[in-house]
Amino acid sequence: MTRPKYRIRVLNAISPSGLQRFPDDRYEVGDAIERPDAILVRSRDLHRSTIDAHVRAIARAGAGTNNIPVEEMSRRGVPVFNAPGANANAVKELVLGALLLAARNIVPALRYVSQLDGGAADLEAMVEDGKRQFAGGELAGRTLGIVGLGAIGSLVADTAIKLGMNVVGFDPEITVEAAWRLPSSVRKANSLEDLLRQADFVTLHVPLLDVTRNLVDARRLAVIKPGASLLNFARHAIVDEDAVVDALRQTRLKYYLCDFPSKVLLGQPNVIALPHLGASTEEAEENCAVMAVDQLRAFLEHGSRVLAYDPLAGDAANLELGGRVLILDNARDCLRDADVVLVATPDPEFKQVWSEFSGLLPSHRSALEAVWLFERFIRQLRSYAQ
Ligand SMILES: NC(=O)c1ccc[n+]([C@@H]2O[C@H](COP(=O)([O-])OP(=O)(O)OC[C@H]3O[C@@H](n4cnc5c(N)ncnc54)[C@H](O)[C@@H]3O)[C@@H](O)[C@H]2O)c1
Repeated sequence: MTRPKYRIRVLNAISPSGLQRFPDDRYEVGDAIERPDAILVRSRDLHRSTIDAHVRAIARAGAGTNNIPVEEMSRRGVPVFNAPGANANAVKELVLGALLLAARNIVPALRYVSQLDGGAADLEAMVEDGKRQFAGGELAGRTLGIVGLGAIGSLVADTAIKLGMNVVGFDPEITVEAAWRLPSSVRKANSLEDLLRQADFVTLHVPLLDVTRNLVDARRLAVIKPGASLLNFARHAIVDEDAVVDALRQTRLKYYLCDFPSKVLLGQPNVIALPHLGASTEEAEENCAVMAVDQLRAFLEHGSRVLAYDPLAGDAANLELGGRVLILDNARDCLRDADVVLVATPDPEFKQVWSEFSGLLPSHRSALEAVWLFERFIRQLRSYAQ
């Protein structure tokens, strides 16, 4: 019997390290594939396109899923996979670079040097003169405030501690797994304001959600430790940029370092904006592509032969052989259409039932988190049923 050929439409340039994991004899992969079984995407905005009715899964070779209509796909029973944590080290290293830029005034110092006249007789005097304006501070002994202690935030915490910094963190949604990953010397802030009051550097590592939009606004900047620097390598809209520019003008804030140049920020002297370089390393692109392709393969090749579990029945023994997997935040409306429902819900009773199975999902904040653990979950279900 010949095995089916899966058809994958690839949008954007995806690292070959990922693409070569699709075996040639079983996959047709390309940007012009018609009637695809799945879509592999990086930055293309799928909110603006019609997603073919044949599509059974979408994978994003990146951490977030802002460019994918996840809710609409959930209604259609199409799982959306992403690659959480795959680019965390790349972002962490850029944040480290930004901390050093801020502490040692490197950007204005470079600007100063670039306008010196190489032929000038007093060049040496000018260098010595300039030096005084750019004297900085050391990171060791200073306090770093980290908002969001997930994949990136916890790596930043670890590095900062190794550099001798004091680290204070704020993350009201922290998962048990993320809390285990954190170095024990990270102090817990009781509120964002508590963190802002004590940190010399504040770095943001939260997703962009309704509750995190403008998380750092004028009200919060009013309590920030005077002379602190703010780093935003998460998403531009987490910070109210007009309020940041005001805080810089009042010298309440020393620098704003970010990955998101904008009309408001360009030309501001104490803004250091990079062109969205956070995840732009060869290694991060490879990690993301590999993770996305492996998840698509696992779903296409095995996802339709999983055991069914209906958590809403509230009975952990209610297992039967099922077909399609549906991944939803709120499954109630869709139970009729699904053989299997993998639910991400904050419902505490559901957590209890779920943990009887696996203990694998300490938190059910988002469907994506459940998807990330999907493979392990399925393996666990299979072993449970044997
Ligand atoms: N600059 C870039 O190129 C780049 C690259 C990768 C990721 N990112 C951004 O970084 C963000 C973080 O990435 P990650 O991989 O660490 O994600 P993650 O999901 O592992 O961690 C996010 C953390 O934020 C916490 N959080 C949620 N709401 C919060 C709130 N209101 N206050 C404090 N903490 C809160 C969560 O509990 C979680 O621990 C991503 O969502 C993405 O937007 C940017």
